[in-house]
Amino acid sequence: MNKNVVILISGRGSNMQAIVNAHIAGADIKAVISNRPDAAGLAWANERGITTAVVNHRDFDSREAFDAQLQHTIDAYQPDLVVLAGFMRILTADFCLHYQNRLLNIHPSLLPSFKGLHTHQAAIDAGCKLAGCSVHFVTPELDHGPIISQGAVPILPDDTADSLAERILSVEHSLYPQAVADFVNNRLQIKDGIVTNQQPASASSKLLAF
Ligand code: GAR
Repeated sequence: MNKNVVILISGRGSNMQAIVNAHIAGADIKAVISNRPDAAGLAWANERGITTAVVNHRDFDSREAFDAQLQHTIDAYQPDLVVLAGFMRILTADFCLHYQNRLLNIHPSLLPSFKGLHTHQAAIDAGCKLAGCSVHFVTPELDHGPIISQGAVPILPDDTADSLAERILSVEHSLYPQAVADFVNNRLQIKDGIVTNQQPASASSKLLAF
């Protein structure tokens, strides 16, 4: 049976586009929801006939009230999976626990290094020779949940945060659809905070993209 998928964005939504364009067998994209009414990804989804919704964080006095309305909006689509795709809001513990083991995020660093913002500059400043991105299950602790897959790229001597971000983003666009496909096809298992993939051939975690 197909799984209902809801995607949350805050901006251009290129990861959302990669997931939609992958036409993942077993995944029904039920809605794209943004906390920003001007998110460019909303127009892209609308043009393709995908249901969209906005829950504007500016309309709420507290993080708890925003998350409660966001949860209400998401749950109308009876999601089996909620995908954070450049969703730039910190979520409350209650929200994370409500979607425990069915909430994914992509983060532009090789976790557990460089949590939070400005990850590309931080990797350059640390003198790292590799950087990358991680898809992980979301837990209440920021950028901390069980890691599903990672992709790595080199950091080149003349890299800026922007050039490195661009190189990593192209890896994100293959890594995230693969992780969603693995989830909806029940290939992921979590035990003691460690994710195993039932079909290692499909796992992107060995990817080293240049
Ligand atoms: C992506 O690089 C994603 O990894 C990052 O924001 C960008 C969104 O781009 N996410 C985070 O930093 C989350 N902490 P997109 O809107 O084009 O998918």
